[in-house]
Amino acid sequence: MTAPSVAGTRRLPHASALDTARVLGRVVVPLLARGVIVRRRAAVAMAERADADARAVALLQELRRTYGAGPLRLRLPRRMVVLLSPQHVHRVLADGPEPFSPATREKRAALSHFEPDNVLISSAEDRAERRPFHDVALDSGSALHRGSDAAVATIHEELDGLLERVDATGRLEWDDYARTWLRIVRRVTLGDGAADDEQLTDDLVALRATANWAFLHPTRRRLRRRFHERLQGHLDRAEPGSLAFWAAQAPTTPNTRPSQQVAQWLFAFDAATWAGFRALALLATHPEQLRLVRAEIDAVDLGVPQPLPRLRAVVLESLRLWPTTPAVLRETTARTQWEEGPMPEGTSILTYAPFFHRDDENLPEAHRFAPDLWARQRTEDDWPFVPFSAGPAQCPGRNVVLHTVSLALARLLRDRDVDLLDGRLRHDEDLPGTLDMFTLRFAVGPRETAAA
Ligand code: HEM
Repeated sequence: MTAPSVAGTRRLPHASALDTARVLGRVVVPLLARGVIVRRRAAVAMAERADADARAVALLQELRRTYGAGPLRLRLPRRMVVLLSPQHVHRVLADGPEPFSPATREKRAALSHFEPDNVLISSAEDRAERRPFHDVALDSGSALHRGSDAAVATIHEELDGLLERVDATGRLEWDDYARTWLRIVRRVTLGDGAADDEQLTDDLVALRATANWAFLHPTRRRLRRRFHERLQGHLDRAEPGSLAFWAAQAPTTPNTRPSQQVAQWLFAFDAATWAGFRALALLATHPEQLRLVRAEIDAVDLGVPQPLPRLRAVVLESLRLWPTTPAVLRETTARTQWEEGPMPEGTSILTYAPFFHRDDENLPEAHRFAPDLWARQRTEDDWPFVPFSAGPAQCPGRNVVLHTVSLALARLLRDRDVDLLDGRLRHDEDLPGTLDMFTLRFAVGPRETAAA
């Protein structure tokens, strides 16, 4: 449907009141119910049962057929549009922080509960001072962080412990995997001195739980202060080999507020637990892909940093199939012009990543495990895969996270066979739109096929 013309001017297509309600019911409410900042287990299980993401994608496909390529305005008191075209996603993510600011009202309300001065919710001026801290400390442009030797040693040590426990029971379950991963995160980020500081992780989880309620929950200021004092204590040690060491070398101004920046690292590393566990489920159910991954692992010394491109693509596929940041939000800081008409200042823009990652009307591999998708050259007109966002606010931790998760998976699969203990994923069937990571369980035993 073309946008109606008013006195010769074009307007962005407007969803009807009913279609707006359907977007709220099928896209927005399920996102909020699962918890945007920390996931609620029961709600994630329910979302899998309802195949919530597939239903949301189907609705947005229908709305694209009805209203065209958008951006589609919703009929709400808050000005809000949903993006339906790859080119629009590229434009919005590339043209930041002005006129498309990552610091939306909703994100500010949520993240302020634990990191009010973080780069993601900073003004354009503050962002200019804070973003270089992340890029330098995280070595964001390098596939392998310049200090990744220490992370490699840590991952092997922690996986030794995990595999010892797993070998005793023959089972790998979420709680043990997640506890191990969070220890890895504290050691890699803050050093061995933080290995046992579960209080730090627990305080952050408690603050994130309030962040799920955004405007609707009062800030727990005392807890937030305690968390940042603890975190600052770890940063002050600047332990060699940890990211805190590199943070201490990164450029700062009085306005950088390092603990406010590093809180995001600890928070964001959590998503890697989900991505890694789901990637393991994919490999456990796709023998041909597992064979290729093992050929890569067997050919290198995992004791030193390795790029492991195939395993990286597997982790990226896990994030394409089940993005851990499904809603990428922007807010306009000025009126902008589109093919269909103007968009006013102060409009909230939703990129719903699963719609683009799983759009089977444009992507034949949409519901298949297809790591080779990540080897293709992409263009502006190409389908956007945005698990790490794009443009100036693209995740500066993407390489660190892809390397650490790939290595943990490599270590698990090098000399163990892993079977998924239920039929939720099959290599000869479409993959589900939603996958509850908390309930994945694996049988683990010695590897039967010898290394090549
Ligand atoms: C699977 C793991 C991760 C995923 C999927 C992920 C995804 C994302 C996404 C989508 C954004 C941008 C949000 C937006 O455009 O509004 C982002 C931003 C960010 N991420 Fe990650 N991230 C992950 C892990 C990490 C890790 C481990 C770190 C640090 C060690 C990190 C640091 C950051 C920072 C500092 C930002 C803010 C960037 C800015 O605003 O300029 N992330 N991440």
